[in-house]
Amino acid sequence: MPTPSVTDRINRLKKEKNAVILAHYYTRPEVQDLADYVGDSLGLSQEAGKTDAEIIVFCGVHFMAETAAIISPRKKVLIPVQHAGCSLAESVNGYELKQWKEEHPEGIVVSYVNTTAEVKAYTDICCTSANALRVVESLPPNSRILFVPDKNLGAWIRKRTGREMELWAGDCCVHQRITAEMILEKAAEYPEADILIHPEANCSADDRIHSLPQAYFYSTAGMIAHAKKSPKKQFVIATEMDTLHQLQKDSPAKEFIPVGDRIICGQMKKITPENLLEALEKEQYKVTVPAEIREKARLPIQRMLEL
Ligand code: 13P
Ligand code: SF4
Repeated sequence: MPTPSVTDRINRLKKEKNAVILAHYYTRPEVQDLADYVGDSLGLSQEAGKTDAEIIVFCGVHFMAETAAIISPRKKVLIPVQHAGCSLAESVNGYELKQWKEEHPEGIVVSYVNTTAEVKAYTDICCTSANALRVVESLPPNSRILFVPDKNLGAWIRKRTGREMELWAGDCCVHQRITAEMILEKAAEYPEADILIHPEANCSADDRIHSLPQAYFYSTAGMIAHAKKSPKKQFVIATEMDTLHQLQKDSPAKEFIPVGDRIICGQMKKITPENLLEALEKEQYKVTVPAEIREKARLPIQRMLEL
């Protein structure tokens, strides 16, 4: 827990500087509690687009802060640590996509928002785990589609929509640890529980999981909404562990069981109340995207947000 003085100083600086703190559900619980808005990738992008604060302090990984800087170029976007990376975002680069586009000029590139600005600059439309099905279903039938970079999310979309897509071979090192066997084990141990699975999980296209009537696939915000409105009392959660913080806060009388005990994104945990305070004090570390890339990268994000 942060000391009262850290919390007070953060709140005072936030007001003085007209700053807003945005945090992803995978950040530390104490960071989530300091944020003005906690959300999934889609919610955070939407919030970055509509805030009228002058400074956005982004508690998440670098590509998320970069997305905020693309959407809100006139705002000062800060990230409290310099090297909060993402294995998924790092698995594809702009050069590789440029080559694919040259080879397939009629092709459509759909990028998960977990990508760098450079990759977005070669993308036709972005998606998040919350709107991926809608985005792919909106594309003209029979088009040639390349989905980057998450092979698990891509396989899940393919299964759900029946759309043919070429899949990039990237994965999230955290969700890749969530196997079908882990889910089946928990289903046997907690037969009354609903099982909420992130589509980045390794097992998201596994038929054994799709045939479980109590298994649902959601983005993190989708899981929270499901648990809130469900009459069930127990839920197995197959995503990053600190999502349980918000789940438990919203539904204190319900029980949430993590699918495994090592489903942790170390990059998200780099943000602490102390470096968040320092970010506000020193206005560091500023995240910028060169204008030429920003202009190109804005279009696929905008197309997604307009859907
Ligand atoms: P969502 O925020 O879309 O649920 O994605 C999870 C994730 O891995 C973000 O890095
Ligand atoms: Fe990247 Fe996975 Fe961490 Fe999300 S959970 S930031 S996809 S490494």
